[in-house]
Amino acid sequence: MMPIWIKHASQLVTMISSAPGPRTGSEMSELGIIEDGSLWIEDGKVIRAGTTEQLEQEFTERASEAEIIDAKGQLVTPGLVDPHTHVVYGGTREVEFEKRLEGASYMEIMNAGGGIHATSSMTREATEKELLEQTTKRLNSFLKHGVTTVEGKSGYGLNTETELKQLRVMKKLNETHPIDLIPTFMGAHAVPKEYKGREDEYVTHIIEDMIPKVAEENLARFNDVFCEKNVFTPEQSERILEAGKAYGLIPKIHADEIEPYKGAELAAKVGAISAEHLLKASDEGIHAMADSGTIACLLPATALYLREEAANARKMIDAGVPVAISTDCNPGSSPTTSMPLVMNLACILMRMTPAEALSAATINAAWAIGEEQNAGIIDAGRNADIVLWDVPSYQMLQYAFGVNHVKAVWKKGVRFV
Ligand code: NIG
Ligand code: FE
Repeated sequence: MMPIWIKHASQLVTMISSAPGPRTGSEMSELGIIEDGSLWIEDGKVIRAGTTEQLEQEFTERASEAEIIDAKGQLVTPGLVDPHTHVVYGGTREVEFEKRLEGASYMEIMNAGGGIHATSSMTREATEKELLEQTTKRLNSFLKHGVTTVEGKSGYGLNTETELKQLRVMKKLNETHPIDLIPTFMGAHAVPKEYKGREDEYVTHIIEDMIPKVAEENLARFNDVFCEKNVFTPEQSERILEAGKAYGLIPKIHADEIEPYKGAELAAKVGAISAEHLLKASDEGIHAMADSGTIACLLPATALYLREEAANARKMIDAGVPVAISTDCNPGSSPTTSMPLVMNLACILMRMTPAEALSAATINAAWAIGEEQNAGIIDAGRNADIVLWDVPSYQMLQYAFGVNHVKAVWKKGVRFV
């Protein structure tokens, strides 16, 4: 493969800092920016990041071997990381979108058998081939929006066969698609219709049947639960997450999304790597998360789409909770693949600064899915997951919203956009 030499970026955002873990507080504003930045990429890795002047001293002799990219007036960042999606699903739910605009709530629709249940039926019916094709389209769209690593959850099967089908589709996509797809098992996304009134039996089924099979085939890294009133109680959630831990599955929790439910407290208690949504998280829960080092994975596009007030990111950052952001890409509450939009919304709806939003979509997002050694940073020896943006600064990226500023995307040194 021909080396790539990117020169004269007006800002090269590396995300390099001395912080040893996920970024908290003022660390979230340290972007490791190099002005008039330059990158030498070879064999899929970043070999050197520095100023154009520095790299000219070191690499001019080899210039004729390389493809040279003039990034004058442009911004270079790490590939964005989306740490929370439900990207593998069958069908769509545009009918519910209209119902919600007429006044029906998300939970009303779900409790009436729509919502997650509707997607579950369509996902059960879909063949692996259909799921592969539909998800490939969505992953292509992620890539076009500058995203090079994506977490994906099962949770539209709600039976063993279809949960495994979703996870196998993810495994296949990892072999066929340039995006790294990090798999999460989420059998506890809803109680399926056939278990209505026998919720605890479904929990037992997850624990005794699904989790061992997922672990046996090594199909997931994380175990996620929708801990919400009328879905899974904190007690049921804890049982499921503890059972997963025994099989090496790391806990995540959809917590305090619609109602305060002590989900943030539970995330801290079980040592979850991240807690998601947190719109209604209590102060105690936020402080418990700061103590346990649990990452808050905030989803402002979902809040917007459900017309809910977004999570209190400022309170979390002030309390020392590391914050990541994500699309939550799913067919019901956030049908988007645009992480740039999510960064814009993090600023607009949650008053995160443009710098914090970029940290949340790169390095902290990588930590939230255990990919901090592979993604979210531009440094010598790391994967060359790189985005070139047609704006001169990260401030412009966060300011000029609703527009796709992506000019080029490299995944492991190969250009796809
Ligand atoms: O994170 N809140 C629960 N799960 C998803 C939505 C899934 C769906 O509606 O299909 C979420 O928003
Ligand atoms: Fe979600």
